[in-house]
Amino acid sequence: MSTASPLDEQQIRDRLAEIGAQIAADYAEEPPILVGVLKGAVMVMADLARSIDLKVEMDWMAVSSYGSGTKSSGVVRILKDLSGDITGRNVLIVEDIIDSGLTLKWSLANLRSRGPKSVEIATSLRKPEAARVEIDVKYVGFDIPNEFVIGYGLDHAENYRNLPYVGVLARSVYED
Ligand code: XMP
Ligand code: MG
Repeated sequence: MSTASPLDEQQIRDRLAEIGAQIAADYAEEPPILVGVLKGAVMVMADLARSIDLKVEMDWMAVSSYGSGTKSSGVVRILKDLSGDITGRNVLIVEDIIDSGLTLKWSLANLRSRGPKSVEIATSLRKPEAARVEIDVKYVGFDIPNEFVIGYGLDHAENYRNLPYVGVLARSVYED
């Protein structure tokens, strides 16, 4: 599914309900641990988790991409690690947005090294035109154009995360 951003609350809610139902069907036999990537994934985690009619667990990880401004460097460090063990478990990473994919590629490799049974990805947003690495993403809310977006967990300088919708940040805000 490809769509123009911005996205309103209703569009987001409807799409996450669809994905939640799909996840419930796919994992009916062995429910996943949802691993939310802080801070951006807080909103999608809260909404997606409530749309999955299974006994899911939730855990959180915070990673930081070195680099400044609105570009990811792919050099990642863990700011907060999972609180639980994922060995032998189905892990579903919950992301706010996949842009270059560099951060997620690193997180995937990191989690896979811990011996889970499976690792899949659910993201509310993806920017296909910005992809610099190929990542197999099982659940995508919306593919959006390559613009800097804010709201629904996404920030610019820590602002706008609490907007209930996704909006495009005017270039003049982040470019000289
Ligand atoms: P990459 O490029 O590694 O993106 O896939 C890593 C992280 O960068 C943030 N990001 C954004 N944040 N609006 C934001 O507010 C955006 O358009 C955007 N693109 C990337 C986000 O935290 C993502 O996980
Ligand atoms: Mg993120």
